[in-house]
Amino acid sequence: MLRCVIIGYGFLGKRLAKLLAAGAVEGVKLVGVASSKGYIYEESGLTLVDLPDELQSSRALKPSPAIELIDRGLTDLLVELTPTNIRDGEPGLSHIKLALEHGIDVVTANKGPIALAYDELMELAEETGSMLLHEATVGGGIPLISLKNRCLAADELLSIKGILNGTTNYILSRMHFEEMTLELALREAQMLGIAERDPTLDLEGIDTALKLVILANSLMNAGKKLSDVKIKGITGITSEAIAAAKESGMTIKLIGTADENGLRVAPKLVRLNDPICVHGTLNAVSFNFKILRRLTIIGEGAGESTISALLNDIYEVVKARARSSRT
Ligand SMILES: NC(=O)c1ccc[n+]([C@@H]2O[C@H](COP(=O)([O-])OP(=O)(O)OC[C@H]3O[C@@H](n4cnc5c(N)ncnc54)[C@H](OP(=O)(O)O)[C@@H]3O)[C@@H](O)[C@H]2O)c1
Repeated sequence: MLRCVIIGYGFLGKRLAKLLAAGAVEGVKLVGVASSKGYIYEESGLTLVDLPDELQSSRALKPSPAIELIDRGLTDLLVELTPTNIRDGEPGLSHIKLALEHGIDVVTANKGPIALAYDELMELAEETGSMLLHEATVGGGIPLISLKNRCLAADELLSIKGILNGTTNYILSRMHFEEMTLELALREAQMLGIAERDPTLDLEGIDTALKLVILANSLMNAGKKLSDVKIKGITGITSEAIAAAKESGMTIKLIGTADENGLRVAPKLVRLNDPICVHGTLNAVSFNFKILRRLTIIGEGAGESTISALLNDIYEVVKARARSSRT
């Protein structure tokens, strides 16, 4: 049984903890969960009744930093789900680094450490023989990384073009179909919980850029940083521009592109019948492979669907460890 610890007990962490405690992945025992308030740990495995809505309401809460769970060798598999920090990747970066240094496998949805330090973390994992899986960092539950690495590993990926941010896609869709202004569509998105109270990272294209860097580095070996991406967000998009696009059978979408000319994020005119032209909170990614040519994949790019990617990465770790224990 792999002893699993989840650091980050928020939207994703709570839902994943419940599933693992209920035995969603055979071969995994959830032994610890942590938030910024401390952690609860049970060597024999946490059950559903041990998991409170808020960790601070648990009598078992140990008010110590989560990193203790890694440092004291209490886990074989870390699921890192702390907030994305694009300045220095912390606290996730330190959690992931320490785990990999100890030979502990890591699954994460946290974009910060993967976008800022992908090459360094992968080298560390290689050195210590640990695994670092991060499907959930881009496109929620849509299998983008495993699609390339498992099904299309022998083909060459030439370019990536995608709608990678559900919040901005929702706003642009409302502007197109309901002829709303950007301000009104944003306010609606905030009321529905689709947009953050501070939506800057989404509107300015930075969230899309982070995801593009992750895809380019992990699927194309691009070795890029966030500062290498030319970024233009959607704040300058007017109702008039959307109406003009609509008249010619097009609309405006925030597109992230990675190709031989580098990485860029910008609002683009897209034909309404282009497979990438999805609406609402959907994400869509078009890959261009040397042999396969164009492949477009569409799905919910955030929210509960992300749990599917986390579970699959956990399952991959269990399978790999079972294989290595047989050899
Ligand atoms: N939600 C999605 O749909 C989605 C999709 C893809 C990727 N992601 C990424 O996945 C990660 C988790 O997302 P989420 O929506 O679950 O976030 P969230 O609801 O904000 O939860 C974050 C959790 O991390 C904890 N935390 C903060 N600092 C910590 C520290 N120093 N030590 C231990 N725990 C700490 C918080 O504890 P407190 O509550 O005590 O502050 C909270 O429990 C983020 O990086 C996010 O960008 C999210």
